[in-house]
Amino acid sequence: MALMLKELFCLLLIGFTVAVDKNNFKTCEQSSFCRRLRGVKPGESKYQLNLETLQVTDNSVEAVLVNTEANANFQFTLTAIAGNIFRVFIDEVKPLYPRYRVQYALNGEPQVAKLEILERTSDLVKIKSEENTAIINANPLKLEFYHKGDLVTIVNGRGLFTFEHYRTKTPEVEGQEPPQEDPGTWEENFKSHHDSKPRGPEAIGFDVSFPDALRIYGLPDHADRLSLRSTGPGGLDPYRLYNLDVFEYEVDSTMAIYGAVPVVYAHSPKHTVGVFWHNAAETWVDINNSKDGNVVSSIVNLVSGHKTEARVDAHFMSETGVFDLFVMMGPKPKDTVRQFASLTGAAPLQQYYTLGYHQCRWNYNDQDDVVNVIENLDKGDFPVDFIWLDIEYTDGKKYFTWDPIKFSNPHAMINNLTSTGRKLIVIIDPHIKRENGYFLHEDALANDYYVKTKDGNVYEGWCWPGASSYLDFYNPYAREYFKGLYSVDKFKGTTDDVYIWNDMNEPSVFNGPEVTMPKDCLHYGNIEHRAVHNEVGLAYTMVTHDALLQRTPNKRPFILTRSHFPGSQRYCAMWTGDNDAQWSHLAISYPMCLSVALGGLSNCGADIGGFFHNPDAELLQRWYQAGVWLPFMRAHAHIDTRRREPYLFPEDVQNRIRNSLRLRYAHLPLFYTLFWEHEITGDPVIRPLFYEFPNDMNLVDVDNCLMVGSSVLAHPVTEAGASSVTVHLPGGSSQYWYDVEDFRKYTGTGNYNIPVSLDKSPAFYRGGSIIPRKDRPRRSAELMKHDPFTLYVALDKNKSAQGTLFVDDYQSFEYRNKKYVYINFNFENNVLTGSLIDKTDYPTKEWIERVVILGPPSGVKGATLKSKSLGEVKLETSYDAEQSSLVIRKPGVSVRESFTIKLF
Ligand code: GLC
Repeated sequence: MALMLKELFCLLLIGFTVAVDKNNFKTCEQSSFCRRLRGVKPGESKYQLNLETLQVTDNSVEAVLVNTEANANFQFTLTAIAGNIFRVFIDEVKPLYPRYRVQYALNGEPQVAKLEILERTSDLVKIKSEENTAIINANPLKLEFYHKGDLVTIVNGRGLFTFEHYRTKTPEVEGQEPPQEDPGTWEENFKSHHDSKPRGPEAIGFDVSFPDALRIYGLPDHADRLSLRSTGPGGLDPYRLYNLDVFEYEVDSTMAIYGAVPVVYAHSPKHTVGVFWHNAAETWVDINNSKDGNVVSSIVNLVSGHKTEARVDAHFMSETGVFDLFVMMGPKPKDTVRQFASLTGAAPLQQYYTLGYHQCRWNYNDQDDVVNVIENLDKGDFPVDFIWLDIEYTDGKKYFTWDPIKFSNPHAMINNLTSTGRKLIVIIDPHIKRENGYFLHEDALANDYYVKTKDGNVYEGWCWPGASSYLDFYNPYAREYFKGLYSVDKFKGTTDDVYIWNDMNEPSVFNGPEVTMPKDCLHYGNIEHRAVHNEVGLAYTMVTHDALLQRTPNKRPFILTRSHFPGSQRYCAMWTGDNDAQWSHLAISYPMCLSVALGGLSNCGADIGGFFHNPDAELLQRWYQAGVWLPFMRAHAHIDTRRREPYLFPEDVQNRIRNSLRLRYAHLPLFYTLFWEHEITGDPVIRPLFYEFPNDMNLVDVDNCLMVGSSVLAHPVTEAGASSVTVHLPGGSSQYWYDVEDFRKYTGTGNYNIPVSLDKSPAFYRGGSIIPRKDRPRRSAELMKHDPFTLYVALDKNKSAQGTLFVDDYQSFEYRNKKYVYINFNFENNVLTGSLIDKTDYPTKEWIERVVILGPPSGVKGATLKSKSLGEVKLETSYDAEQSSLVIRKPGVSVRESFTIKLF
């Protein structure tokens, strides 16, 4: 197969190696602003708050902040935000050139909370809001945040706060050291900015410390462990947040990749707090972490209440923007993640079917291929709901067109799919082919919809189509125009049930600096690309989302994005990009998605099988087994790889893949219920163990397993030839765990060596939970929608359990008009109760087919069901041979009504 353009570019650059070429991407040392800010000396802060200017309102305090050395004034505002959050905002008082304020991350303006002044002296102001107090020290500026009297967060405690503006003296201005060129440095800008306003260095840095924190998490997207490592001069490069298309990214790296979510959570058993840095420019974050000190003694100290060695320091460095920091006061992981969701929003409930299996490849060759793939999956009884078309479906990489030969009749192809309950997803990338006669290019040129160079010409770069330009999604006219393109009469060949994949939206520019757009390009309103870079992918997907809603108002859109930023979850699912068919890439998919989920984007997946290269059968099977428990489950492969649809493998491999898919489909009601709860609460759908067991210090580094909600612990096999895996089951001796397959009972007392054949991928139900499943194997989620439920009641030590289930029409927005049923299941004293949580109704046909009780009481002879419509009914029960489960047969009760089932 001929090399694709992108590979060609990269191979030319990297000389046919297979790993990432680090020379294509900057280090902190090569980034002039990172170098400058890393060089700021601690303890010499020159920023002072003039408390004589203090103004107090019901919700905020304001004062002038002075850079005493440069004699420059800034406006400082600290606002109390509802839900135990503070916001600190600083901007220049009279900027020569107004700085960009991030537009799309927040889910509306945060609601303010009441704030009162507790104390005021000439040096400090002490304020209180909700459970928290904050001390604003004036000279130098230092902010201390206390939760119920405990100091949990300090901003500028080390004095690294820096707010460069063009009058600030820096080495560059003094001419002592020429800057290493950023593409389009401030100097270039200074000279040639088209409106000739003078610009200077405008980086912003600050330190934030978390006394007593054992670990710090966050800053997705990195192909790294969940808990952040220490970085610093001479050591690891800082974690970089700069959305980039990194060819063959490597694991265990702090390098930037596709997404940037500038949020961190500092955690100890006592407190979990976080900060959200609301900035869309390139950002580097140095971490200094107690992790690398003596962890054992830190833990001992924490437990014994002695002065601890635990502490985490972070140093944020951004190229531009304003200072806008949210301090989220916790106090537990759950509270802090909810606080972040209250700011940036949660994902709206997605269509049920999108939680099923997605079959993708670059590319399905033609319309017959698409139909054949589905037919073959059907023949092999592999459940699947979506099939995807990558860029080759288009006419010469012109989006919104079809290849006239290979996809001559998309309607027929789509109807064929929908007749079997399957749906199509097609790719639409943001680069536009510069070809005369291509309507989109011509419209964009005629109406001035493209991003410009710093000189005001249309910016031109290279991407899949060759010469391309880039629609400017900051231009309201371009947005409106683009929205219209998705309608079924404009995007001919599509229907209401075609969904969208927005890729390459970092944006990827093959011949651009670091494979992206030059920072001095200009967006609508003369916004420099530099200021919005990490946000542009979000701006793009927002338009697609609006477009799908406009096209089909009462169907929930589905969009997959590669680039992401805080707020992306309100519009799309994401995936971890171009991974590789290597065991290390399978393993890193869990920490990556966990980090992304804590960053607000629960709907995360990784390409099953690995995008580049050919996985062997063992790796592929293991990848399917692991993929069962990640919210977005898609197999995908590079155009140069061998075909690898599940039916192409020997029978034993097919069986394992089929079993994985069936296990996934059985758990769709659980995932769906969790996504509903996510929309309401912001709780992540997948969770690291420390989130569920925040007091257990042994879990702070565990990231090779995850929890689905609070009820399933999945620990996939991520090593070749494994005959056993060490699984950590938490919760102590009173916490029970049940193997999902054979219901064997364990206690949460730490590490177990679990033997694994190729068929086995360890997963456990947590004692105390009730897991709703649909166990009838079928070919798609669409075909399962009316199927009955089986409830798995995993009893705790007290022989009780609890769970929830959400049911609606699975695709429209009617659930927002109370057309749903949300049910609580409770088991105690040998009685299972089902009761509606909200006063709602939805005429579902779904009912309860079976109840399986794990760790059941002994001596049960039968059961009695009582409900309004069925009256009192005797039910049969039976133990399995080892008495590890008890089955209640055919309760037959609808999930629309309350009921009890009593064991006797
Ligand atoms: C990018 C995507 C990949 C896709 C390819 C062609 O590399 O990450 O998933 O297959 O582009 O569109």
